[in-house]
Amino acid sequence: MSRVVFCRAHPSLALIKYWGKSDSRRNLPATASLAVTLAGVHTETRVRPAPADRVTVDGMEQPVERYAPFFDVLRHRLRTAQRFRADSTNSFPTAAGLASSSSGFAALAAACARMAGRDLPAGELSAVARVGSASAARSLFGGFTLLPARARAARQLLPEQHWPELRVLVAVASPQAKAISSRQAMEATRGGSPFYRAWLASSGRLLPEAMEALQKRDLEKLGELARLSYSRMHAALLASDPPVLYWLPATVALVRECAELRRQGLGAWETIDAGPQVKVLCLAAEAARIAERLREAAGAAQPAYGAQPAYGAESAGGQIIECRPGPAPEVRVEEE
Ligand code: DP6
Repeated sequence: MSRVVFCRAHPSLALIKYWGKSDSRRNLPATASLAVTLAGVHTETRVRPAPADRVTVDGMEQPVERYAPFFDVLRHRLRTAQRFRADSTNSFPTAAGLASSSSGFAALAAACARMAGRDLPAGELSAVARVGSASAARSLFGGFTLLPARARAARQLLPEQHWPELRVLVAVASPQAKAISSRQAMEATRGGSPFYRAWLASSGRLLPEAMEALQKRDLEKLGELARLSYSRMHAALLASDPPVLYWLPATVALVRECAELRRQGLGAWETIDAGPQVKVLCLAAEAARIAERLREAAGAAQPAYGAQPAYGAESAGGQIIECRPGPAPEVRVEEE
C-alpha cells in the first residue's frame, strides 16, 4: 500500500483586486487584495512521492517550468529533497478566469507539506503558495482574507460565519481557457499601460473603506467599492499596448443586467477577474431571482466570436454557479 495525500481547496475571489507585482522574481503583489474564499467550487489534488516533479490538471500535463519556483521554495521550507507527482481536478472551467490557480497552488502546498510529514502553519503555507500564484496565498484561509501589498503571506480577517447570507453567483460567459494568462497580462499592464500608476494609487485608497464595509456586512458599500476595483483594473488593462480585453458579449450583457437589477432595487454587485466570467455578490434571499435574470441575460448574448457550436448556448452563456463564503483547505491521508 502506498500513501497518497488528498487536499480539497477553494478559490479565492478578490473584491479589491491584486493586479501587478512589486517583485516579479519573488512574486510579491503590488496592491493589497481583499477576498472571499468560495464554497461551491473547488480544486481536488492528490499528491504522491515521485522521481521528478509532475503536475496534471484535469488530466493535462502542466509545463514543469511554471511550477519550478514553487517546488524549489516548498522543498527549501520543508527541508526535504522529496519530489512530487500531483494530479488535480477542478469542479469549474480551468484557466478561464475562475481563480483555478488560487485553489490549485493552495491545495498543492498543503498536500505536499503533509506528504513530507510537515504540518506548517497556514501562514507559512500561504507564503509558499504565493510563489506559485499570489492569489493562492489567500486560499489557504477560509472566510474573508487580506493579502497586503508587498506581503509574503495572506491572513484571515474574518471567518466564513461572519456573513453566512452572502452569496456569489458565478456566471460563466465562456468556459474556454483564456488566451493570455493573468501573469502575462499583469506584466503588460505594468510595462505598457500609462494608467498603471493611477491604478496602484486608487487601489490603495479603496481598501480601508472596503474593509470597513465588510466588517459591517454592508453589501451596497462593499459592492460599490468592488465595482470600482475591477473597473479600474480592466481600464488599466485596456490601456496597455497592445490592449488586453478579456470581456465577451456575454460579459457586457451581465454587467448591464446587474445595473438593471440594482435599478429595480435588487442588490447585485458584479466583479470580473482575468477572464470573461462575471461574479455577482448578493444576499441569499435574492440569489434565486438574480440567478434567473443572469442566466437569461448571458443566454441571450451573442456566443463568443470564434466559439465552436459544440460548446453551445448552455455552457457559453447559461451556467450560474452559486457560491458562499467557504472554508480553509481540507487535507487527509489516503492509502492505495
Ligand atoms: C485578477 O494570482 O493568478 O484574479 O500571481 O501571477 O499567478 P499570479 O497571478 P494570479 O492573479 C490573480 C489576479 C486576479 C485578482 C485577484 O485574485 O486578486
